[in-house]
Amino acid sequence: MITGKYPNLRLRRNRKESWSRRLVQENTLSPNDFILPIFLIDGSNKKEAIPSMPGVFRYTINRISQIIDRSIKKGIPMVALFPKTKNIKKNAIGSEALNENNIVCKAILEIKKKYKNEIGIMCDVALDPYTSHGHDGLVKSKKILNDETIEVLINQSLLQAEMGCDVIAPSDMMDGRIGKIRKALDKSNFKDVRILSYAAKYASNFYNPFRDAVGSRGNLKGHKKTYQMDFRNSDEALREIALDIKEGADMVMVKPGMPYLDIIKSIKEKFRIPVFAFQVSGEYSLISNAIKKGMISEDVIYETLISFKRAGANAIITYYADRLDKILR
Ligand code: PBG
Repeated sequence: MITGKYPNLRLRRNRKESWSRRLVQENTLSPNDFILPIFLIDGSNKKEAIPSMPGVFRYTINRISQIIDRSIKKGIPMVALFPKTKNIKKNAIGSEALNENNIVCKAILEIKKKYKNEIGIMCDVALDPYTSHGHDGLVKSKKILNDETIEVLINQSLLQAEMGCDVIAPSDMMDGRIGKIRKALDKSNFKDVRILSYAAKYASNFYNPFRDAVGSRGNLKGHKKTYQMDFRNSDEALREIALDIKEGADMVMVKPGMPYLDIIKSIKEKFRIPVFAFQVSGEYSLISNAIKKGMISEDVIYETLISFKRAGANAIITYYADRLDKILR
């Protein structure tokens, strides 16, 4: 690959002026690369700060148009909805997930009514925002039940699709759920509803601020290592991805983001499908707090986002997506 050598070859020549650096740029970011997560709460007229995620808020349904308007204006293709469910609505089987009046359903209806297809909506499929034990699935004798959980997830997916959700995103890591959800969607004539599988989702220590945001942190009993992946593994991620593609996933996600760039890269190289990266809450909080304290400059945000593109991600879910002007400037 090397076509010359010093002193004939000087790689610094191309770096000399801004115009020259811009010409040889290999990766860029545009608003099309971003998905904005939005946290929802019950009630009305509230925009609530989340202490562990400085700059991120929870919105009541009547306030979401503020943030959807902004997202559309900035050209973001899609938002992802996450509910903070009141503890009184939680139980062991997460039945609120199947309530057609839950905040996610109401938000989908509201957004689709007002904005039609100006922006895509993606929804998590998993039970953790709704269960009293904070797990993504049903629990029996301290075990997370796989096949029984899938039956509930199918109904959760169908309900979200019925409300108008464009992209169903199972984040539960049960075996076989993509195929079963796909089949159920097709049978109910939701053939065009896409599935974005959280296929390579690690049992990570970076999720705590998110669990604060959706109110599941205090509830969670034990850990999620029997269903989310061991962060020591990478072959296993490729197996997960291969299965989910076979089962019908339209797009796949790697989560968390920055510590898993190697996974993004190998998935992209091997499968050549749309791969999304999730810059998760813990990454967001680390970066934001360090900026707040003046330890690093805001420019670090752009650098982290570009790293996902360099690794091969097609899009990035990030809590910074609504502040793109500053970041992409
Ligand atoms: C729930 C879910 C989690 C995240 C997205 N969906 C947390 C978890 O699995 O415990 C994490 C997102 C983030 O940390 O930003 N299944």
